[in-house]
Amino acid sequence: MITHPAFAVEPWCVPETHLDLEVLAQTESVFALSNGHIGLRANLDEGEPFGIPGTYLNSFYELRPLPYAEAGYGYPESGQTVLNVTNGKIIRLLVDDEPFDVRYGRLLAHERVLDLRDGVLRRRVEWESPAGTTVRVNSTRIVSFVHRSAAAILYEVEPIDSPLRVAIQSELIANEPAPPTSNDPRTAAVLESPLQSEDFSEREARIVLVHSTKRSKLLMAAAMDHVIDGPAGTFVDAECATDVGRVTVAADLGAGERLTIVKFLSYGWSSQRSLPAIRDQVIAAVAKAKHSGWKSLLEGQRAYLDDFWACADVELEGDTELQQAVRFALFHTLQAGARAEQRAIPAKGLTGPGYDGHTFWDTERFVLPVLTYTAPSAAADALRWRHSTLELARERARQLGQNGAAFPWRTIRGHECSGYWPAGTAAFHVSADIADAVVRYQAAVEDDVFELEAGLELLVETARLWRSLGHHDAEGRFRIDGVTGPDEYSAVADNNVFTNLLAQRNLLAAADGVVHHPKAAAELGADLEEAATWRDAANAMVVPWDEALGVHCQAEGFTEHQVWDFANTRPDQYPLLLHFPYFDLYRKQVVKQADLVLALHWRGDAFTAEEKAANFAYYEPLTVRDSSLSASTQAVVAAEVGHLELAYDYFGEAALMDLHDLEHNTRDGVHIASLAGAWLAAVAGFGGLRDHDGFLSFAPRLPTRLERLAFGLRFRDRLLKVEATKTEATYTLEDGEPLELSHHGKRVTVSTERSVTRRIPPAKPGRPAPSPPPGREPMFRGRERAEGS
Ligand code: BGC
Repeated sequence: MITHPAFAVEPWCVPETHLDLEVLAQTESVFALSNGHIGLRANLDEGEPFGIPGTYLNSFYELRPLPYAEAGYGYPESGQTVLNVTNGKIIRLLVDDEPFDVRYGRLLAHERVLDLRDGVLRRRVEWESPAGTTVRVNSTRIVSFVHRSAAAILYEVEPIDSPLRVAIQSELIANEPAPPTSNDPRTAAVLESPLQSEDFSEREARIVLVHSTKRSKLLMAAAMDHVIDGPAGTFVDAECATDVGRVTVAADLGAGERLTIVKFLSYGWSSQRSLPAIRDQVIAAVAKAKHSGWKSLLEGQRAYLDDFWACADVELEGDTELQQAVRFALFHTLQAGARAEQRAIPAKGLTGPGYDGHTFWDTERFVLPVLTYTAPSAAADALRWRHSTLELARERARQLGQNGAAFPWRTIRGHECSGYWPAGTAAFHVSADIADAVVRYQAAVEDDVFELEAGLELLVETARLWRSLGHHDAEGRFRIDGVTGPDEYSAVADNNVFTNLLAQRNLLAAADGVVHHPKAAAELGADLEEAATWRDAANAMVVPWDEALGVHCQAEGFTEHQVWDFANTRPDQYPLLLHFPYFDLYRKQVVKQADLVLALHWRGDAFTAEEKAANFAYYEPLTVRDSSLSASTQAVVAAEVGHLELAYDYFGEAALMDLHDLEHNTRDGVHIASLAGAWLAAVAGFGGLRDHDGFLSFAPRLPTRLERLAFGLRFRDRLLKVEATKTEATYTLEDGEPLELSHHGKRVTVSTERSVTRRIPPAKPGRPAPSPPPGREPMFRGRERAEGS
């Protein structure tokens, strides 16, 4: 684990007080800025040194071969890989005769601050060149939430001791050299210099570069323009070629003088529009940003974030580090989805090349529940994106011999890109996760337009998938055999409880949709008769139970498998998938990430309290958390079954995943699902939020370390605030019609006139907290270990 000592703890920002090149790539991800449309890794302004250079446009990808040692029917033939596109972040500085480079001369000061309220990355540097000249550089970077295709950088240079001659080169660079993102030489070859020049032009301090991709046939344009303010005699020149655009500014700076450049950037891309259309779009967008001006970009960003935080902020009293981490987590969750606008939300957002830039079930299972309650239009957009890929999902289902729609396990544009079918194709639960996100969104927002335009069809087509994938056995029970659940250390198992219970909800919601919207359903070819078959399947769904152990089986037969030999597994043998063959993982009781426990959270309505406690106790010692998606769910369920201190440790792990680089791969991008999971751990864990059947219930209970927890939710045109201390909880409605909710099982009605305060009932004595596998305990965060909870 790398704990970066340079991240100071502040409630509303993430400051780095000195530059440590050892963790440069991690900080590039942590400080990345994005609005879901454009993503800029926090590469240093001067471009070098870098860990991984990165500028990403949502859904701008190249196709690459997916080579198989042994081919098989239905294997995807090519994959999609996010591209590092034209870099507009570069601003090089020449101080007298020396290029500014942090590796040379002396760095007198170097601070970076990610400001979570202003939504900018600030950098302050004082540098002494090898020749002894000192200079101060301040830069501020923004990727606008308001102007979707715009970013900007304010760059200021001033002398510290003696006058300076400086030159600044503000650049656009395509096909910049970068470390290969694939070990496979065939893939690496395709991804080397992936952009072909189509057009370039310059006019005064504005430059436009247009490029295309060879295989995916996408077109993109990048534009930059500048506002330059320097002393009399400041010189400006612009030039461009196929892969580089450069605006050079030279000035002599006397004491007290400063050279200030505002660099405006815009990006546009398309699979359909023409070169002139894309080029003109970026020229217009950069003009719009320039016309708004730097100040107004900043004000717009602040206003956007004020609005977000007014609802989304989670306040924690008693743990400042976690307070910072939760806000950081929410900021990245927003950045990933805010303006994705009918494009995917990738597992790493737009912060790095990890997982090839793919979107997984992470989005619907972990990210959308958060956005549904904090930025609902972003949740709707993400689901509309899924809807826009329905035809591909239908094709995939047909190819697999199924009806309805089978959504891809991993993708950028909607095509299946997983080459390992047992953990990819067979993980059909992704379709149920999408349906579940639709159900929750509709319940929370009551968005009729969405329901008719996208929601109903998503439910109907996924219900058809389950109906064809499963079958009624001789006793009439509905079985879904041969699927992979969330635990990827089991594969192709029968009747995975999580999958079956989510499919059950999917089938029932689709049937209800047909009843409520018979006309719209008829257009989809669905009628009451078909809906009745869905209800039959749902009502007869198999949910395996082990009578002898008194617990649910993650999938049939699971509890009969041999338990993994945890005692003889060394700490350096995790993650297990890198040290043991899959066949052995598959046939033993060892859980990569919450699976049955995930069902306890999202289908909590299908279990009794005693079953939840017994199941959690059984699965906890088997769960190794080899995926960052696990800790938040374990936090939520541990809190529900009364292990508050263990829950708190898991909460810390989910929230600090990237600030502490817990999986050692933050360099490739931040873990959006884990970060979104930090909200889930706080709100669903210690706040006890559940939203089964569209009814909000809460059961707040705080761990030792927290004195107070407060959070907000948007729900059906209302803004609800919840505040809990150790002894009582207060529900306040900031706007909207009165709302009935439940507090620890008792119904209360809250209105804008009247907040409601209720005592938190004392916890019932329960079982002692179970232990995770030896050596896999979460990081300790104040748990009284002796207390056994
Ligand atoms: C997890 C998957 C997840 C993927 C992307 C894997 O390690 O096991 O469930 O979708 O990472 O985050």
